[in-house]
Amino acid sequence: MKLSPQPSCVYLGMMWTWALWLFPLLCKFSLAALPAKPENISCVYYYRKNLTCTWSPGEETSYTQYTVRRTYSYGQKHDNCTTNSSTSENRAACSFFLPRITNPDNCTIEVEAQNADGVITSDMTYWHLEGIAKTEPPEIFSVKPVWGIKRMIQIEWIKPELAPVSSNLKYTLHFRTVNSTSWMEVNFTKNRRDTDQTHNLTGLQAFTEYVIALRCAVDGSKFWSDWSQEKMGMTEEEAPCGLELWRVLKPAEADGRRPVQLLWKKPRGAPVLEKTLGYNIWYFPENNTNLTETINTTNQPLELHLGGESYWVSMISYNSLGKSPVATLRIPAIQEKSFRCIEVMQACLAEDRLVVKWQSCALDVNTWMVEWFPDMDSEPPTLSWEPVSQAKNWTIHQDKLKPFWCYNISVYPMLHDKVGEPYSIQAYAKEGVPSEGPETKVENIGVKTVTIMWKEIPKRQRKGIICNYTIFYQAEGGKGFSKTVNSSILQYSLEALQRKTSYTVQVMASTSAGGTNGTSINFKTLSFSVFEIILITTLIAGGLLLLIILTAAYGLKKPNSQVMLMLLSGTTLREPLQESQIGSPVLAQRSQPC
Ligand SMILES: *[C@@H]1O[C@H](CO)[C@@H](O)[C@H](O)[C@H]1NC(C)=O
Ligand SMILES: *[C@@H]1O[C@H](CO)[C@@H](O)[C@H](O)[C@H]1NC(C)=O
Ligand SMILES: *[C@@H]1O[C@H](CO)[C@@H](O)[C@H](O)[C@H]1NC(C)=O
Ligand SMILES: *[C@@H]1O[C@H](CO)[C@@H](O)[C@H](O)[C@H]1NC(C)=O
Ligand SMILES: *[C@@H]1O[C@H](CO)[C@@H](O)[C@H](O)[C@H]1NC(C)=O
Ligand SMILES: *[C@@H]1O[C@H](CO)[C@@H](O)[C@H](O)[C@H]1NC(C)=O
Ligand SMILES: *[C@@H]1O[C@H](CO)[C@@H](O)[C@H](O)[C@H]1NC(C)=O
Ligand SMILES: *[C@@H]1O[C@H](CO)[C@@H](O)[C@H](O)[C@H]1NC(C)=O
Ligand SMILES: *[C@@H]1O[C@H](CO)[C@@H](O)[C@H](O)[C@H]1NC(C)=O
Ligand SMILES: *[C@@H]1O[C@H](CO)[C@@H](O)[C@H](O)[C@H]1NC(C)=O
Ligand SMILES: *[C@@H]1O[C@H](CO)[C@@H](O)[C@H](O)[C@H]1NC(C)=O
Ligand SMILES: *[C@@H]1O[C@H](CO)[C@@H](O)[C@H](O)[C@H]1NC(C)=O
Repeated sequence: MKLSPQPSCVYLGMMWTWALWLFPLLCKFSLAALPAKPENISCVYYYRKNLTCTWSPGEETSYTQYTVRRTYSYGQKHDNCTTNSSTSENRAACSFFLPRITNPDNCTIEVEAQNADGVITSDMTYWHLEGIAKTEPPEIFSVKPVWGIKRMIQIEWIKPELAPVSSNLKYTLHFRTVNSTSWMEVNFTKNRRDTDQTHNLTGLQAFTEYVIALRCAVDGSKFWSDWSQEKMGMTEEEAPCGLELWRVLKPAEADGRRPVQLLWKKPRGAPVLEKTLGYNIWYFPENNTNLTETINTTNQPLELHLGGESYWVSMISYNSLGKSPVATLRIPAIQEKSFRCIEVMQACLAEDRLVVKWQSCALDVNTWMVEWFPDMDSEPPTLSWEPVSQAKNWTIHQDKLKPFWCYNISVYPMLHDKVGEPYSIQAYAKEGVPSEGPETKVENIGVKTVTIMWKEIPKRQRKGIICNYTIFYQAEGGKGFSKTVNSSILQYSLEALQRKTSYTVQVMASTSAGGTNGTSINFKTLSFSVFEIILITTLIAGGLLLLIILTAAYGLKKPNSQVMLMLLSGTTLREPLQESQIGSPVLAQRSQPC
């Protein structure tokens, strides 16, 4: 460590009382001006190309020049490497080139940092070249299956051109299926004398495309090559595995033949292991195999037209490698009685799944067929189905069903070859608020009562199971009332209303997600009821009749004209009577028009 002469230190000689204070401060300042000591030296031997060392330069206060001092050939030779780049990042790396690199070797490396104020040298580091060699990546030449060997692909590659002949190479191979994002890996080593540059990757899925990449490292080196370019290859397909078979029975046609729709698929979760070329189907009446018919098809569904008796249907799928096992299904005769054993069934939502559970009295039934399709008025339903065994429940992920659609779910018990009667329920994978309220009208408006009637909301607008209806009614300027009824009720009579009053009424349909009001309608209660009108009319009419009778009875004793007069004036009875007794001619004339 050198200190350049400082003027302040000279000055110090004369004013050394000051110096006692100043010396440590100033000298500290001059020390800080030296370059930082290079740390973290790291070297990579790019095999047969260059030996590159890098280091952390530390914070630079002024322009710093770095020199890498090296001894090689096991300490017999020396050389220096000087960076001459102007940017500080690039100045923290320096490379030695061929032919001044010998392998194997044990080099020493020191980095010297120099600026205007002085020089600082790093610690001495030792580098065994084999241990820091890095090669180019291998190049994958082919990825392909070996004929006749299942679930395997063979990878063939070309060794990096510049790789030590004297060392073994270790490899990491990573692979994934085309649609997956997570890599799997295997490690293996190839002996330096091994000319076979292939690896058999086993335990794969059949008929699946894989992406492969490879890297290598000199055995004993800590540096891996970069990854090679990715290459894709596909495993061989296999003969198809078994199918599941199901049917939809339709009513018999006029000619007595009945259509049966045949459906099939691979079991849930079975991987696609082959490219199916087609299906062979054959069927015959249960009591006569002589009448076997065959059909070859490439796609489903397939509609068979069978007679009324019971049938057996069998099928296989085939590809270029072979046939699947046979799947069979019995179609019951038309008049055959099927058994019933499901007693109760319910659907509920658990997390993000729809769970259907049922109970059965038949202990020997262990297999069930679940069928589901959306309950829509318009389009013909697209049926989905799935067998369940050893359980009395079935779950489906919510995403696989359309939200706000009502699904019809049926479960068929299956015992040996027999299919029992289904039990059906309706369920929603996700419920919403109805998109419109019920259509409402009022009828039988009375003085104090009215009947509110509404229609069921069309299936498409319901969006959930209607739990109840709420009737809101309110007199003009009055308090609002409501009444909730269950979903089976489609009319309700309001009572104890006010006479001759305008009311507003609205019916709300609620699902578990909420309710929607129908349009509000107005009505006015009557002033009088029919009974009241009849009563009043009867009373008035009765009163009049009584009066007429009374008057008539009176009039029998008196002259007719005066009876008329009395009826007309009706104010006092006495006066006219007195006048009539006088026998006024005016009055007698007046009575004439009557
Ligand atoms: C050293 O070799 C590697 C690998 O070929 C190359 O990427 C790098 O640029 C080389 N370094 C120098 C300074 O030439
Ligand atoms: C390397 O540099 C050092 C000082 O930095 C010097 O003493 C030595 O002679 C140089 N060696 C070569 C081979 O240039
Ligand atoms: C390299 O040489 C140094 C000093 O001679 C020694 O300590 C170190 O073990 C050697 N390294 C190898 C890998 O031979
Ligand atoms: C993989 O993805 C492709 C296209 O993204 C798709 O066609 C193919 O069916 C997928 N395969 C599997 C097994 O999911
Ligand atoms: C393969 O080798 C790498 C590097 O040594 C290691 O990290 C990894 O765990 C190994 N993988 C397996 C599957 O052994
Ligand atoms: C890979 O499998 C083929 C076929 O079985 C065999 O001939 C070959 O030797 C295997 N290669 C390796 C590296 O195991
Ligand atoms: C098969 O059964 C059907 C109905 O059960 C019957 O009509 C028919 O005669 C039977 N055929 C034979 C060959 O037994
Ligand atoms: C089936 O055909 C065979 C030979 O043609 C005949 O002997 C047999 O009786 C037939 N069976 C029925 C059930 O028709
Ligand atoms: C169906 O295919 C099978 C074999 O693939 C063949 O034996 C049979 O004759 C075909 N049947 C028809 C009706 O084409
Ligand atoms: C369905 O049934 C199986 C077998 O009885 C049981 O283990 C499982 O917990 C049930 N699942 C649900 C969601 O009830
Ligand atoms: C009507 O149904 C909704 C939705 O399920 C519920 O929240 C509400 O409590 C029910 N109202 C009555 C009075 O039962
Ligand atoms: C339906 O209308 C009534 C009264 O008009 C109101 O109280 C209720 O909140 C409304 N419901 C909805 C879901 O808007």
